[in-house]
This record gives sequence, structure tokens and C-alpha cells, in this order.
Amino acid sequence: MVKKVLVTGGCGFLGSHVCEFYRQKGAEVIAYDSMTKGELNRTGFAVDSARDHNMNYLKGIGVEIARADVCNFEELADNANGCDYIVHTAAQPAMTISWEDPRLDINTNVIGTFNVLEAARKLKIPVACCATIHVYGNKINETLKETEKRYTREPVGIDETHPTLEGKITPLHASKAAGDIYVKVYNDTYNVDAASFRLTGIYGTRQFGGEDHGWVANFGIRSVMDWPLTIFGTGKQARDIIYATDICEAFDAFYRTRKPGIYNIGGGEDTVLSLLECIDILEEINGQKPNVKFEPARHGDLSYFVCDISKARRELNWEPKIKPRQGIEKLMEWIKENKSIFG
Ligand SMILES: NC(=O)c1ccc[n+]([C@@H]2O[C@H](COP(=O)([O-])OP(=O)(O)OC[C@H]3O[C@@H](n4cnc5c(N)ncnc54)[C@H](O)[C@@H]3O)[C@@H](O)[C@H]2O)c1
Repeated sequence: MVKKVLVTGGCGFLGSHVCEFYRQKGAEVIAYDSMTKGELNRTGFAVDSARDHNMNYLKGIGVEIARADVCNFEELADNANGCDYIVHTAAQPAMTISWEDPRLDINTNVIGTFNVLEAARKLKIPVACCATIHVYGNKINETLKETEKRYTREPVGIDETHPTLEGKITPLHASKAAGDIYVKVYNDTYNVDAASFRLTGIYGTRQFGGEDHGWVANFGIRSVMDWPLTIFGTGKQARDIIYATDICEAFDAFYRTRKPGIYNIGGGEDTVLSLLECIDILEEINGQKPNVKFEPARHGDLSYFVCDISKARRELNWEPKIKPRQGIEKLMEWIKENKSIFG
């Protein structure tokens, strides 16, 4: 059982769920976060309230906050000292920001992940790192069929043996793939118990999704606020979306089973949803059609990804539980309860 955990990016969306998950299990939890406002400044939300929301929530459930940067190795190692697990969710997670500011991207995602792995090696702590399904690149776009509402593909699921970085890639592809490779390096060379989780589209409460990343929350927030929302591309882009707590279960399964390596983590074939289908669900929940604009697809976009989660099922004995309709309803309740944060 985890007794004390360091969660980098702990005040972000996924990190806050990891913190909550381990507090509920009685562990001591440190949320290590630089509290960057870079992406929030682009959303139109009430930036300071949005930025502090997760931190205040975590303080309220007894999480210790360390306001610091993953690029600062000494501070990171200091905070990791005495922990028995590190979950590394801190990142520059947006493709758009990566091409606008490639230095921020490489520093946060490559140096940050390297520092986390070094801390884990020196302190002999197991570590879970967040990669993304974008490490596969976007040549998959050339293999798709199209139905009325979504892109499809045969076979449906894509596993960890699929070639990586194919197609036209961005700095984010490179930085997240580098982190993913370094996890393997630390496992192969230093025997660090490290896993890289290639995550699909995630959604849930405490997600301040904007146009840069977090599309389910972005659409949900905009539909509740009655703001127009933009779809880049046809809207037929499809993902096996996964609710944040299902990912926390996967991180914890890795801590218990200690089977290092790379895992595709998503909801699998049962949770596939396109952007257009997500809009339909939001309309059903809200009783009103969101005001949707269309713009051309963006550089680097991936039109389809559904994880083949057989490896995680087999090795980690893990199974995602939450279905899209159920998860989106929870997200929408949270948005409605917190309307003042958004504008
Ligand atoms: N949200 C998704 O749909 C999705 C999909 C695939 C992969 N991922 C990955 O999951 C992880 C978590 O994503 P998220 O959606 O929760 O992102 P998020 O932006 O909500 O959270 C990231 C947190 O990291 C913090 N951070 C950024 N730079 C930092 C630094 N230099 N030092 C310390 N903290 C820093 C931010 O302040 C933020 O609180 C990321 O690695 C991301 O790439 C997310």
C-alpha cells in the first residue's frame, strides 16, 4: 500500500485526481506544482480562481502543496525523499502551445521527466509517468473510414507495438516520446520500477479544458456557459475517452504489480466517442444545442485513437469502469456547481 506519494502536477486536472485517490486511501500526499497560468490565460476563464480551485480543494482534504518546478532537480528530490511512490503528471500537455513555445515544451516534458526519473533512481522509488497516445504520430489518419458521425478503423484498437512518431509531428510529439523513451532507459539501464502510460483523451471534474487540450471539458464548459465552441476539422475525430479516476486505478495497479514498461491506457472499444457524438450527449444533458463553429483541422491533429488495453488488463489486472454518459454527467454537474470560475 502507498504510504506517501509525490504527485507532480498535483494541482492540475489528472494530478488532482491522483492526490484525491491516495488521500482517500489514507496516504500522505504532496502535490508538487509550479502553478503555471500559461494555458489558463488562453481560455477566457477567471484565471486566478480557476488556477487556485484544485489547490484549495486539495488543501481541504489534507494534501500538502509544494509550489515548485520539475525543472528544479534539488527541490524535486527533496520533496520525493521519504515517499514510496512518484506519479508524474506535470507537463506542457498541449500540441498548440508546443509549436508556439518549443523551449517551454522541451524543458517541461523532457528535462522535467528526466529529473523525475533521476529522483526515482537516486531514492529507489517506483514511478508512473504520463505519456500520450500522440507518441504514435498521426499517419493513422490515412487509414480511416468515415461514417455519418465518426471516423472508424479496422482493427479498432491500437496496441503498444504500433510504430511511433509516424506522420507530420510537432514538438509535443517529440517531447512526450522522449519522456516515454527515458522511462524505458531508466528501467533497462538502472532497474528503476518505471512505467510510461500512453494516455488517450481524459475527462472529469476539476478539468479546465480549453481549445488547447481537454476537449470534453472545453465543450461541456462552453455549453453550460452558452459560449460558442469551435470544432477544428470535421468533428468525426474519435477517442476511447477515459474518466480520470480510472487512470488513478491504473497507476495504483502498477504500484502493486510492479510490472514496468509501456501501457496504452484508455477506455477501450466501449468508450469510443467522436466530437460530434459528444455534442449530442451535451445537448441531451442540457436540453439545448451548443452553438458550434467549424475551423480547419490543426497541424499535428490525430483523427482517431482507440487503445487496445489488453496489455494493461493482463499485466496490471486493471479494467476501466466509467462509461462516457455517466462520466460526462459528473463533469457537467461540477461545471454547473462552479459556473463563477468560468467567467
Ligand atoms: N488531459 C488529457 O486529455 C491528456 C491526454 C493524454 C495525456 N495527458 C497527459 O496527462 C498529464 C496530465 O495532464 P492534465 O490534463 O492533467 O494537464 P494539466 O495542465 O491540467 O496539469 C498539469 C499540471 O502540471 C503543472 N506544471 C506544468 N509545468 C510544470 C513544471 N515545470 N513544474 C511543475 N508543475 C508543472 C501545471 O501547473 C498543471 O497544474 C500530462 O502529462 C499530459 O500530457 C493528458
